[in-house]
Amino acid sequence: MFEERVYCGELTVGDIGKSVVLAGWVDTKRDLGGVVFLEIRDVTGIMQAVVHPAAVSGDTSTCADRVRDEYCVMVRGKVVKRSDETVNPNLKTGTIEVDIEELQILNASLVPPFPLDSRESVSEDLRLKYRYLDLRRKEMRDAVIMRHRVMQETRKYLTENRFIEIETPMLNKSTPEGARDFLVPSRINRGMFFALPQSPQLFKQILMVAGFDRYFQIVKCFRDEDLRNDRQPEFTQIDLEMSFVTPDMVMGTIEGLLKRLVIEMTGKEIKDSFPRLTYDEAMSRFGKDAPDMRFGLELVECSDIFRESQFQVFTGALAARGIIKGMAVADEGKISRKMVDDYAEFVKIYRAKGMPWVRFRSGNFEGGISKFLSDTEKDALVKAFDLQGDMLVIFSSDRKNIVNDTLGNLRVKIARDLKLFDEDELNFLWVTDFPLLEYSEEEGRYYATHHPFTSPSRESIGLLDNLTPDNVGGIKAQAYDVVLNGVEIGGGSIRISDTVLQGKIFSVLGISDEEAKVKFSFLLEALKFGAPPHGGIALGLDRVLMIIMNKNSIRDVIPFPKTQRGQCPMSEAPSPVDDDQLKELSIKLVER
Ligand code: AMO
Repeated sequence: MFEERVYCGELTVGDIGKSVVLAGWVDTKRDLGGVVFLEIRDVTGIMQAVVHPAAVSGDTSTCADRVRDEYCVMVRGKVVKRSDETVNPNLKTGTIEVDIEELQILNASLVPPFPLDSRESVSEDLRLKYRYLDLRRKEMRDAVIMRHRVMQETRKYLTENRFIEIETPMLNKSTPEGARDFLVPSRINRGMFFALPQSPQLFKQILMVAGFDRYFQIVKCFRDEDLRNDRQPEFTQIDLEMSFVTPDMVMGTIEGLLKRLVIEMTGKEIKDSFPRLTYDEAMSRFGKDAPDMRFGLELVECSDIFRESQFQVFTGALAARGIIKGMAVADEGKISRKMVDDYAEFVKIYRAKGMPWVRFRSGNFEGGISKFLSDTEKDALVKAFDLQGDMLVIFSSDRKNIVNDTLGNLRVKIARDLKLFDEDELNFLWVTDFPLLEYSEEEGRYYATHHPFTSPSRESIGLLDNLTPDNVGGIKAQAYDVVLNGVEIGGGSIRISDTVLQGKIFSVLGISDEEAKVKFSFLLEALKFGAPPHGGIALGLDRVLMIIMNKNSIRDVIPFPKTQRGQCPMSEAPSPVDDDQLKELSIKLVER
């Protein structure tokens, strides 16, 4: 009978009169005075099937009696039109049903630990423990299928654009992407470890040297970092690298890909190219390097306005080489005093020591720091923030990074609270001209903003010879991030293909020749053999899916994700291993 099987969600009125075989799970069962209605579910959808006891064999009648929700069944029957009063407009197949001639129970099911038709009341841990049941729910099934479609469309688009899909190894030396590695001990090489790839960065560059001038891979990456709603320890990148390219060519390729993926996922057309902001502009106007541009609430620097301020918090911050920025919200009185207090509490997460504010109401300043404002300052504020009507102005005064962090995050929170944007909008943006290096005051050393293979821009290479913590921001990288609705969904750069420049960057980063040799001598060696100029990018597939499908968590687009604690409740990984296994690997656990 299996050979004849058709899919529940694919039957249409055109099939009326046909005899069909369906196989799947009982989504719901209703017994209306002996007539049993079964909603049968398979991977394509739901079809109602009806058992009229008088019209079927004794076996089928008994099965209809015994069958329960989530039993695995097979039915044979005839497709018929539903009577007008039983049409279900919520179901794609709601105008037809199958009159069952034969019903077989293929396998019984325990009562599921949570109802499969709702999720609100179900804890995520329980859903993940019984993920195979959770994946039976339409929402999850749709997400898994969409993931498949996006992967297929990606392969199609990149293949059309001459990219070659090449796999790179999972058992590697550490890749310098800045997170901690997941290590795998080698049994054969005692005391040695592989690292799972944080990304295929070094290998894809090697592939350029090898002459595959357009590479791509849909690849698992592993990073042992603190988890958030948009971060998993094991995630998937759409990774690509190209030889003989400019940043514009890489960006154009990604714009084309994302356009295709958006059409595949939503049916909507987006613009052919995305707006661009430099890193400096993004930080200055929005306080973040991945700003959400669906709404305004731009930050305005007002250090100069408050040089002579009566408000000592401001003058204190300026004296300590800090800055003052503000943000004006046209709140029409919607932000209550309680909300202001909540925001003042919220900003503490970002190390803000306070949240000075003032209200502007029909031309007057009220509340908050209004009593400290001179007339000159008031005039300057009206001009700087274009104050009119009822507005709330919120300030932050501190070190530049704290001010940006505070207002950048508060901006997003307020926009969400006041519903200042359209949830369905897809706002893509490129952020370019990142600083190549960052200086850590605590450690007194420089770090690569992206990774040490990122090329500085031609104009700023000269600065490398007279580097100081003060001018480090002036060295720009040929790096670009793609941002969607305020989330970084991808990042890449043009790489250094010149070994002398690479050596210089290593020395600035405090990576000794010895260390460079140990960590990535194979790449450095390869670059000496006629390496082509090259660059690339990687998109976070899970993040792309999460945002375009409007999900709150990355876990809702990954079939088997880890929890926030980095565990899998279903398989109970990670788990202890036998002493014998450890012995074989020459590993001894110590108490910490
Ligand atoms: P990067 O580190 O910026 O670049 O990573 C690229 C993209 O991968 C996604 N991503 C993640 N998604 C889920 N969970 C995580 N823990 C996680 N970490 C990163 C993000 C990010 O934008 N080798 C370079 C790319 C290149 O230069 O070509 C790289 O990995 O969406």
